[in-house]
Amino acid sequence: MLITNIKFLVNVRDTFHKLRGADLAVLPVVEDTWLRIKDGEIDSWGSMSTLHIVGHEEVYDANGGTVLPTWCDSHTHIVFAAPRESEFVDKIRGLSYAEIAAKGGGILNSARKLAATDEEVLFELAKQRIINLIRLGTGALEVKSGYGLRIDAELKMLRVIRRLKEWSPIPIKATFLGAHAIPMEYKDNRRKYIDMVIDEMLPLVSAENLADYIDVFCEQGFFSQSETEEICNAGIKHGLKAKIHANQLNVSGGVQAGYNVGAVSVDHLETMSDVEVEILSRADAPMATLLPTAAYFLRMGFPPARQLIENNAALVLASDYNPGSSPSGNMNVVVSMSCIQMKMLPEEAINAATLNGAYAIELEDEVGSITPGKRANLIITQRIPSIAYIPYSFGENLIDKVMINGRFFE
Ligand code: NIG
Ligand code: FE
Repeated sequence: MLITNIKFLVNVRDTFHKLRGADLAVLPVVEDTWLRIKDGEIDSWGSMSTLHIVGHEEVYDANGGTVLPTWCDSHTHIVFAAPRESEFVDKIRGLSYAEIAAKGGGILNSARKLAATDEEVLFELAKQRIINLIRLGTGALEVKSGYGLRIDAELKMLRVIRRLKEWSPIPIKATFLGAHAIPMEYKDNRRKYIDMVIDEMLPLVSAENLADYIDVFCEQGFFSQSETEEICNAGIKHGLKAKIHANQLNVSGGVQAGYNVGAVSVDHLETMSDVEVEILSRADAPMATLLPTAAYFLRMGFPPARQLIENNAALVLASDYNPGSSPSGNMNVVVSMSCIQMKMLPEEAINAATLNGAYAIELEDEVGSITPGKRANLIITQRIPSIAYIPYSFGENLIDKVMINGRFFE
């Protein structure tokens, strides 16, 4: 298949590397091109002046539209049983996320609903969410457990994620988030729950090969820095790498924990001090994943994207799609919001949501840029005047077609 009349071919790279600091602002774009797809992969591209159509080749005329690599959403919780819009109203009436959580709402509310829902139903709900996300241009995904919080229910969630991996046309990575909250019945004996995560859940997750990563919600009222490190190190012994929920509501030690355990990424980072920024500036630091729609939905201050970029952090953007803090997985909105509220340049936001997103789930050899040999997972937009128009036109749907593995996704 050949795509012709591409106005802007975005994030074109023969070789690629993780983007830190100033590198994020460099987004390679080629104008007036064709793009050839072979066996579901990107094969080659060239200037329209060199266009040569092979006899039997299928041709799609992009008609002056723009082609980008699909978004890589490296942080989601899309396996859940039900939305939580009543908590949304509670928040409008004045309760905070932490207050809702403390009275058994929040994550524990989702856990109750998940326990009462069959695996088959959970699978169908998540599958439909993924279909909707692909239509919005997402072409790689990470999905977490963490609404189980019991051995059987955590395994149920991870088995749903495994089935999603088998079914899905886009690559999915699975994360075990047994340490998402302390269940009510362990409130006075948190050690017992942590032991259960480490000594009972992890060996089972590992025996069935159900996860790629381990995650902990490192937060006041949830898990401390030392507990986070202990749980991550236990996961590492089972062959998992760490991705941590850090510094969402408080300066929690999550960034330090992520650095100490060699995490792939530390995610959220709404509440940061200079100490955390300095840690993320180091060459061997975890990637810094920002989730601006969660900050927006919870009416929090946004993470300090500019300060992180100026200090050489490897920034990533993701949706955090979940029923409590970001009931949307629309990466187009994430990219816009990052430019509007965190003053990221369009180039920085697109890089952070594509190539760096791929690095954050170790799929950089498969997705994240227009590179021969990577999957042909592409967004084809309507005609747009410039790359900056993508985040500028927030809330508009610019997507004309999404291609996954070389096929148009309907
Ligand atoms: O990433 N912060 C912890 N976990 C999710 C929210 C989960 C929920 O509220 O259900 C997050 O924001
Ligand atoms: Fe999250």
